[in-house]
Amino acid sequence: MTTHVTEITSLAVDLIGVKKSYGRSVEALRGVNIQVRKGEVFGLLGPNGAGKSTLVKIMMTVVRPDAVAGTILGRPIGHLGKKSVMGYLPEVTRFPNYLTGRQVLDYYAQLSDVSASDRRRVIPELMERVGLSHRWHDVRCSKYSKGMLRRLGLAQSLVNDPELVVLDEPTDGLDPIGRRDVRELLTELRSTGKTIFLNSHLLSEIEMVCDRVAILNQGLVARQGTLTELTDHSVECHIKVDGDAAALTAEVEQQGGEIRDGMIVMTQHDGEKVNNMIDLLRGKGIMIESVVPHRFSLEDVFVQILGADARGLKTVEPGKTPPVAARPVS
Ligand SMILES: Nc1ncnc2c1ncn2[C@@H]1O[C@H](COP(=O)(O)OP(=O)(O)OP(=O)(O)O)[C@@H](O)[C@H]1O
Ligand SMILES: [Mg+2]
Repeated sequence: MTTHVTEITSLAVDLIGVKKSYGRSVEALRGVNIQVRKGEVFGLLGPNGAGKSTLVKIMMTVVRPDAVAGTILGRPIGHLGKKSVMGYLPEVTRFPNYLTGRQVLDYYAQLSDVSASDRRRVIPELMERVGLSHRWHDVRCSKYSKGMLRRLGLAQSLVNDPELVVLDEPTDGLDPIGRRDVRELLTELRSTGKTIFLNSHLLSEIEMVCDRVAILNQGLVARQGTLTELTDHSVECHIKVDGDAAALTAEVEQQGGEIRDGMIVMTQHDGEKVNNMIDLLRGKGIMIESVVPHRFSLEDVFVQILGADARGLKTVEPGKTPPVAARPVS
């Protein structure tokens, strides 16, 4: 009983069975379960149209779900409670063109009941933090570039010092420096105990910043877990030998490997088989040039899930291994 209570209270987001259809033909979400722990950076990945934005809009009560259960920061979904607890960067932000960047943030901060003295202190700090230097503070946002508007949107999502920040494609439109700034900002926010939920299809960025991820595909969670949990089962070992590896096909296959691109590839994470293979090569006096373990990247797992889907295979439940093994990118 104690464990169960601890588990519930340590969750910032607990989404159970979220369903949403648009009209009769589009089933955007078909029963999504996602758990985000307090203080972690959680990445929601998925191809275009997977349902990522629909899900965050439901979390933020912008879209009404067909079915939902669970809690956000301990409150039932649909009841945000105090406005100060959540920050939201929508997929598309539009600010009144006649307002300056500073005025935009002041307006949103007032909506969240931030006091006048806090607004005076926090807003310039926040603008600098997202890379909008002093000279832009009092410039109308009609003169901001796309990336600058994204930065302003990011500042807007943090203006009330929220416990949970929900960011829909935060780096969309940002240059490489801007993307790095966002990564640093997210890491900094995590170090202050904030929970961050972000949507993206930029897998390498998710890999750099997220503690846990869920991969959404066609309205269902295909996989959910830590990066290690998602990629650990997918390890290969590439053995390069001096000479023609193809001549060893029979022996390699006997050890559960295969010949690929002139190399011996041990396709399972089995140290004993790799060692047997090395013994066999040494026994034959074959020179081993390299033995390189290959971990699958998040991109490999992502492509694997979409590939399985394209072949008409069912998406797998969280925690289960995929039905088809894919090749890693060396
Ligand atoms: N307002 C709407 N009316 C009708 N269909 C919608 C609406 N909003 C989204 N959809 C549909 O719901 C599905 C999920 O869309 P959603 O925007 O949630 O995807 P996404 O994962 O955020 O995609 P992207 O990566 O392109 O932002 C898509 O098929 C989309 O066409
Ligand atoms: Mg989207």
